[in-house]
Amino acid sequence: MLEKIEQLKEQVSRLSASTAEEVEALRIKYLSKKGEISALMNEFRTVPAESKKAVGQALNELKTLVTDHIANLREQIENSRSVNEANSLDMTRTASPIALGTRHPISIVREQIISIFRRLGFSIAEGPEIEDDWHVFSALNFAADHPARDMQDTFFIQRNPDVLLRTHTSSVQTRVMEKQTPPIRIICPGRVYRNEAVSARAHCFFHQVEALYIDEHVSFADLRQTLLYFAREMFGTDTEIRLRPSYFPFTEPSAEMDISCHLCGGKGCNFCKHTGWVEILGCGMVDPNVLDACGIDSKKYSGFALGMGIERITNLKYRVKDLRMFSENDVRFLEEFTSAR
Ligand code: DAH
Repeated sequence: MLEKIEQLKEQVSRLSASTAEEVEALRIKYLSKKGEISALMNEFRTVPAESKKAVGQALNELKTLVTDHIANLREQIENSRSVNEANSLDMTRTASPIALGTRHPISIVREQIISIFRRLGFSIAEGPEIEDDWHVFSALNFAADHPARDMQDTFFIQRNPDVLLRTHTSSVQTRVMEKQTPPIRIICPGRVYRNEAVSARAHCFFHQVEALYIDEHVSFADLRQTLLYFAREMFGTDTEIRLRPSYFPFTEPSAEMDISCHLCGGKGCNFCKHTGWVEILGCGMVDPNVLDACGIDSKKYSGFALGMGIERITNLKYRVKDLRMFSENDVRFLEEFTSAR
């Protein structure tokens, strides 16, 4: 029997396999219940007592040898399989295209507005969206019973009427004037909130840019020239502007500015309702009451302010018909602005 075991050891050490199935066949042949090793184990019972020790030892060695050898073969095949899989990767293939994001139209237009005012020496100022009555209304000369304070327009955050979402970025003016002494030349871009039913033409949040210039001897002529420069940079050098008298609590005199309709060149079309003009912003000379409320000497200083809705300017430039498009994140809409990136 010892001889048979030695023969098998010899045979096993030369075994080879090239597929997982072949390895499995070897396992069955040697290690299964009906395999060679089991047969030898059965035969072992008949070995005379004096040889049992030597035969038993040889048999154990054989079993370890077979088990190890088959495990090695299996490992080799698994390794070579993963090498083959790696080889089947084509590292020279061009990568799948990565879709580049686009900038939101509101961001594009906001940046355009900011860069025009930057060239005139304005710098950016920011303020909180959650505000108090003083900065949004009282300091800006809103009468205590002004309808804009009404629950209809203003979102109050708590039952306390002094914690509210700003309804315009004019609140940033208040904050800057309180802290800084003139000359002040700032633009304030930001999001504002109003309690409006959402529709194609109105939204409960939108964006504004406010501009404020305060110094000695600032006049209405400075305001008009700033507006003309802005309109021509934004809508083209042949743009004309028109100022209509208006009313805002924080400016006196106040005006609304129209630009000549850039679609029909002022001749009249559906877009400008056949008037040749489209309204784009509100403006005026800062009311002395506002300067005084913010601690600026209204005898020494004067200034102008203007405020516009970014959505409005974007609509004029890109003809977006429904305000809701701006906040729905529909990529089909957003991708239309790829070239404006
Ligand atoms: N704050 C105004 C609004 O929300 C816009 C505005 C009008 C701002 C006239 C101004 C201004 O600075 O002078 O409708």
